[in-house]
Amino acid sequence: MKVLVTGGAGFIGSSFVRYVLRMRKEIDVVNFDLLTYAGNLRNVEEVAANPQYQFVRGDIADETQVENVFEQHRIEAIVNFAAETHVDRSIEDSRPFLRTNVEGTRCLLEQARKHKISKYVQISTDEVYGSLGSTGSFRENSPLDPSSPYSASKAAADLLVLAYYKTHRLPGLVTRCSNNYGPYQFPEKLIPVLITNAMEDRSLPIYGDGLNVREWIFADEHSRAVLLALERGTPGEIYNIGSGHEKTNLEVVGEILRLTNKPESLIQFVKDRPGHDRRYSIDCSKIRREWGWSPEMDFASGLATTIEWYRTNQAWVREIKDASYLSYYDRMYTRRDQTLAVLDS
Ligand code: NAD
Ligand code: DAU
Repeated sequence: MKVLVTGGAGFIGSSFVRYVLRMRKEIDVVNFDLLTYAGNLRNVEEVAANPQYQFVRGDIADETQVENVFEQHRIEAIVNFAAETHVDRSIEDSRPFLRTNVEGTRCLLEQARKHKISKYVQISTDEVYGSLGSTGSFRENSPLDPSSPYSASKAAADLLVLAYYKTHRLPGLVTRCSNNYGPYQFPEKLIPVLITNAMEDRSLPIYGDGLNVREWIFADEHSRAVLLALERGTPGEIYNIGSGHEKTNLEVVGEILRLTNKPESLIQFVKDRPGHDRRYSIDCSKIRREWGWSPEMDFASGLATTIEWYRTNQAWVREIKDASYLSYYDRMYTRRDQTLAVLDS
């Protein structure tokens, strides 16, 4: 089977590409990625010479480019990881989120329909469900209640996939996973920000009171579930993916400080994110029951593995942080730090 993996040069997409090529001799992968600021061919360097693997640079929101890749590669199935993914960026400028996450999904669905693909897996997020109080978990039939432009664009894409199934019988399904962490994550998301800043003795920015809760899953465990979705998922269905490892952001930063042997004084409370969801929690009993999937990595081991990866791959981090596009990253933290200084004075 020839599978178009979009966004395969990003964090989770590259984990999936590496995993599939390790696990399946009968699957060929065409990695279709625009290489935005978040895409990095270093993430897929270890599979670059694999005869089952090809890379095509392209934009999922450009229907001609999508059509060309379908025609040139005889694509049979799609796993769509490609997206704009960072909530803070969507608050600054929502346009690329609407373009890639919504229009990009539409282009893929249209071409998937035209070329009669056998399976379409839409990689979505628990953020489409909104925020929880201190109890309860999201189930697949929980109402959609997105808080950020990012999660609203992902919810719109999910609905498009499900509508194409109902209207055109396109064999699409949606997976919704909780927060991922692990090697190769772009250092704008919480865990790699904390690890890379701690390693450089820089401050560790914690939004608000630090008591927001996220459910952390090691990215390779997510990839294992996505392969099951591709092979065993039922069209028209939604599948939640989660680990059960719920942590407040303060618990996460505490564990990172302990593992890196750095002082608590590095923690810096900064202005909260607007519309900041308080708690996510995923009920993934459906995939445990239907596919026999369960998470294997505990949070402490996953975090230790991740820290070790960032420690031994400082060149990867340096290359990213030195690139001019990261002026965004610096602006974010400079401004937040300054706001805090004003509040303190
Ligand atoms: P990422 O930001 O690390 O990578 C996104 C990739 O998509 C990059 O390689 C980028 O170049 C590519 N891309 C962006 N726009 C594109 C376009 N128009 N055409 C082609 N390629 C394009 O993202 P990630 O964190 O690996 O997330 C992957 C997917 O998983 C996303 O759909 C995201 O919504 C979903 N997800 C992420 C998490 C998480 O915790 N990171 C959790 C649940 C779901
Ligand atoms: O839940 C799945 C989602 O997880 C994915 O769909 C998104 O693509 C992914 O970015 C992630 O979204 P979050 O907003 O939860 O992740 P982020 O790493 O940005 O933030 C995690 C928590 O940490 C959140 O409560 C905000 C907080 N935070 C984040 C950053 C970047 C901080 O306190 N300080 C920071 O510097």
